[in-house]
Order: sequence, then C-alpha cells, then structure tokens
Amino acid sequence: MRIDVVSIFPDYLAPLDLSLIGKARRDGLIELHVHDLRTFTHDRHRTVDDTPYGGGAGMVMKPQPWSEALDQVAAQADARPTLVIPGPGGQRFDQAMARRLAECDHLVFACGRYEGIDERVYEYAARDFEVRVVSLGDYVLNGGEVAALAVIEAVARLVPGVIGNAASLVEESHEDGLLEYPVYTKPEHWQGLSVPEVLLSGDHGRIAAWRHEQRLLRTAARRPDLLPRAAAAGAGELEIAVATAADAGELLTLTHACWLKEGIDNRSLDIPAQHETLQSLTQSLRDWTTYVARLDGRLVGTVRGRLQDGPAGKGAQWDIGRLMVAPDLQGRGFGRALLELIQRSAPPAAVTYGLLTGAASEGNLRMYRRAGFRVVARDDPPGTVSLAKRRRATD
Ligand code: ADE
Repeated sequence: MRIDVVSIFPDYLAPLDLSLIGKARRDGLIELHVHDLRTFTHDRHRTVDDTPYGGGAGMVMKPQPWSEALDQVAAQADARPTLVIPGPGGQRFDQAMARRLAECDHLVFACGRYEGIDERVYEYAARDFEVRVVSLGDYVLNGGEVAALAVIEAVARLVPGVIGNAASLVEESHEDGLLEYPVYTKPEHWQGLSVPEVLLSGDHGRIAAWRHEQRLLRTAARRPDLLPRAAAAGAGELEIAVATAADAGELLTLTHACWLKEGIDNRSLDIPAQHETLQSLTQSLRDWTTYVARLDGRLVGTVRGRLQDGPAGKGAQWDIGRLMVAPDLQGRGFGRALLELIQRSAPPAAVTYGLLTGAASEGNLRMYRRAGFRVVARDDPPGTVSLAKRRRATD
C-alpha cells in the first residue's frame, strides 16, 4: 500500500517511523511519503492561508498550494487513489471504514489547518481522487494530522502481513460489532484481586462462552449504542440492553401477558413460561443471554439465547427462546428485529439456531419461516413444533 500525506507540519507524522507501522515500512509492506504543503507555495512567506470571503473568524487554506500538491501526488499514482480529508464535518471513522480503506492500493491524506480548506479544493480533487471527508469523532482538533495518524494506524494494521498474528485481528473490539472481552495475565492473584476462575479451568468451551458473555455485558454497559445495530432495521426506536436481575419483575409481567394468548391459541395452560416465578426467572438470567427492549423506558420486548449441544454430531446449537413483544405493540416488526438480534449474538461455536413454538401459533410459525427457519420436529414435547436454521458465515 502507498500512503501520501500532505501537511504544513510534516514532522507531525514522525511517529509513523515507530513500532509496527515503522517495521511495515522497512519491510516494504507500506510505502509512505510525507509532503510539506509549503513547498507548493510561490511567495517569500510561503503563505498557505488567507482571510475568509464573507468575513468571520480565522483563516482559510488557499486552494493553489493544495492543487499543486495534489497534482504532484496524482502524477505519481498508478490508479485513482482515495483522498482522505480529515475534518470534524466528515463521515465518522470506524472499523468498517478502516477495513474498506485497507483494501485501497493508494491512500492520500490532506491535512487541513485553521478554519479549513477552500471548498473548491474538494471539487478539484474529485477529478483525480476518490474523495472522503473523515471525522474521528464529535470534537474539534487543531488540524488533520492527529486524525491522519489515527486513521493510518487503524488501516495499516489491517494490511496483510503488518500484524504477525492474524487471529488477533479477528478477536478485537469492533471487529464484529461487540467490544472485546477482559484479558488477564500472571500472577493469578495480585493486590487482593484474582483472575476469574473459568480462565484457569482449561475448559475451552466454558472459556469461549464466558468471553462471549463478557463481550455482550461490556458492550451493553459501555456502548449500548452498538447493541441495537442488529435490531435497528425494524426496531430503531427500541433501546436494547442485556437483562439484569433488576429487570426480572417487569420481565415476569411481560411473560405472563404474552403467554396468556399462546395458551389460548394452543389450548394449554401447561406451557413452561406460564409457570415462571420471579425466582425461576431471575435464575434463568444467569443461564441464558437475555435481552430486554425498552420503548420510552417501558419494557416491551425480550428474547434470549443459550448454547446447547446440537443434534448428535452436528455441533453446538444456539437455542433461542422467549421471544416476546408486548401485545399492544405486536405487528410493528419488533419481534423480527429481536430475532435478528439474538441470532447475531450467537457465540462463534454455534452452527445452528433452534427454537420451539406452539403448533397452533400461526403468527410465530409464519415469522420464523420468513426468517429462514424450517420445521425439524413436531409434537416433541406434545403440542409444539421445533424449528432450526443453519448459521451462515455472514451471520
Ligand atoms: N480535524 C479537526 N477536528 C477533527 C476531527 N474531529 N476528526 C478529524 N479531523 C479533524
């Protein structure tokens, strides 16, 4: 990958000589060129800025040095490079964008300062470059250099060969929409604090399940905005969180409200959910990954999942259960969104999804079929239908 950076402070980019990115440069995986914008000025003072038309505070970067700098970079390009212009008004940088940029052969960074670059430069650049205005976040930096450093580091480490252990790229925060699990090293006991017992157990299945649970809990606690992403299509208004014991009372009320209709449809008062107590429900929160969905603070939906041994020889199954939406809010797509969310929450070991519904629950059966589930058993237990679906690589 070739990277060009244009800046009035070329020394700002010196850290790119260090650490893994520096090594990638020395190994020839990344070719970096830093250009001083002032070398493209033609006056004694090497002026790069001027006062804004229309008045206002601060200075604006002049278009002429930029056009010459970009012309020079474009002349050295084999194909059409991507031009990243960092700025607080840009598209938010995230891991998905890092992955897309890592596929480019040639990235160019134009680091602005002052109040910004004359707007015509963006149009001019579009003749030779794929232009992307990129923001690190909702705050203002003094210039684009720090943002360029951050973007280059996030992108360069995705270039094949830059990180020795490719597996460490997969098990990272944001790679699959969740934050990373907590990590520990020796000693086992330190300052009165101990490493969680499960990590010393040598039981890889338990460790994987614990780590997955930790990722969900951490994401719910620190970045709840990441959780609903899966559900956003149908449930943009819902606030989704991993259920805690504090939700048990409301969950019990919702369970009884939802399972009354199931009982009527299936002519049975012997459905496990109907017999749930506060105590059994609270216990279930420890055994299952349970999500709750709130609308304006009211608990209006839930779903849960648990990893189980699948049918013999077929690998582990992510059992899905208790998919519920408050009776007055059904028919809005919330159920489909929760079903989507719980499938996306399955740990890596799951190869199938499985669920159970009443044989007379026509609406449920329709929704599950539409979501790709197929009937695998009937009347086991009596009055129920079991459905399953193979997990796709993209889930
Ligand atoms: N330049 C100034 N502020 C910035 C930000 N938040 N992100 C990217 N570039 C910037």
